[in-house]
Amino acid sequence: MTGLNNEEKDIYILAIESSCDETAAAVVKNGRNVLSNIISSQIDLHTLYGGVVPEIASRKHIEKINQVIEEALKAADVTMEDIDAIAVTYGPGLVGALLVGVSAAKALAFATGKPLVGVHHIEGHISANYIENPELEPPFMSLVVSGGHSHLVVVKDYGEYEIIGRTRDDAAGEAFDKVARAIGLGYPGGPKIDRVSKEGNPEAIKFPRAKVGENVYDFSFSGLKSAVLNYLNGCQMKGEEVCVPDVAASFQKAVTDVLVEHAIHGAKEYGFTKLAIAGGVASNSSLRAAMQAACDKEGIQFYHPSPVYCTDNAAMIGVAGYYEYMKGARHGWDLNAVPNLKLGER
Ligand code: KG4
Ligand code: ZN
Repeated sequence: MTGLNNEEKDIYILAIESSCDETAAAVVKNGRNVLSNIISSQIDLHTLYGGVVPEIASRKHIEKINQVIEEALKAADVTMEDIDAIAVTYGPGLVGALLVGVSAAKALAFATGKPLVGVHHIEGHISANYIENPELEPPFMSLVVSGGHSHLVVVKDYGEYEIIGRTRDDAAGEAFDKVARAIGLGYPGGPKIDRVSKEGNPEAIKFPRAKVGENVYDFSFSGLKSAVLNYLNGCQMKGEEVCVPDVAASFQKAVTDVLVEHAIHGAKEYGFTKLAIAGGVASNSSLRAAMQAACDKEGIQFYHPSPVYCTDNAAMIGVAGYYEYMKGARHGWDLNAVPNLKLGER
């Protein structure tokens, strides 16, 4: 199954995503052809508060959702009549935010009689890799690093996953956001640290690379975050000036080293020659360069989505929704938002 279906009829999925702070809708044809990808970001709004405020996110989603869906259909040059199924993220995420997308999808499906397919947000992130890599098919190893998740996942087949490593505390993106706040870069931290690091020396400060006991694939980033905070406090007490680009670059290197080491270790142990990264942090330029170099050295094919498909978007939900739809997944009117939905759960 590579994006074609047996009946040779084109399949159009309308996808909706509202799990955090982006209101998004997209139309995807035959699984991998993105006809439209509309994203209404709330970043400017949440920047005022230094992070996502759930109530504000929900309210903004309500304001934007219908408009974003209409735009997605228009930009794809299709109407609801052309759509075969409606896919929507139903977890994990902020419950109030998820509910807006789920309710909109249910209302549309009910009004038009189209099938409804609930999609796991992380499955969406992983599936973003299919958009620009037509040759990529399971099985492969995937590293999902976003604001809420750091998972090392074996993608066994479409819709079949085994999580072999996860974070014990903060997610990678969360660490970026917290450290960015501490060094005065503001929200969202990841892209800002990425940018500032280009002027810094990644070897300037030795921050710890966490080891997490029994499971070699697990991650932990809270110790690293504390080490950065301690370093900043130390500088302040000694009256030393903090070189922000050096702190950013050294922190970023510490995160990147661990992510690359675990992902490569996993790929080799499980015998995979394909490794795909996903999630907001996957757009980090230093991570991409380091992962590419490590994969080249090990003879592993490295896949990553373009930045616009790394951070939250609905095209990735349309891709995952297509494969779920083709496997026969259908949800009823009882589909609800599940804030802590587990990967592979229905
Ligand atoms: O996947 P995503 O949009 O939302 C979640 O599902 O969480 O990821 C957002 C996270 C934020 O923590 C943001 O700081 C981080 O991804 N991020 C980055 C970069 N761009 C976004 N982290 C590091 N480098 C980047 N270039
Ligand atoms: Zn996400």
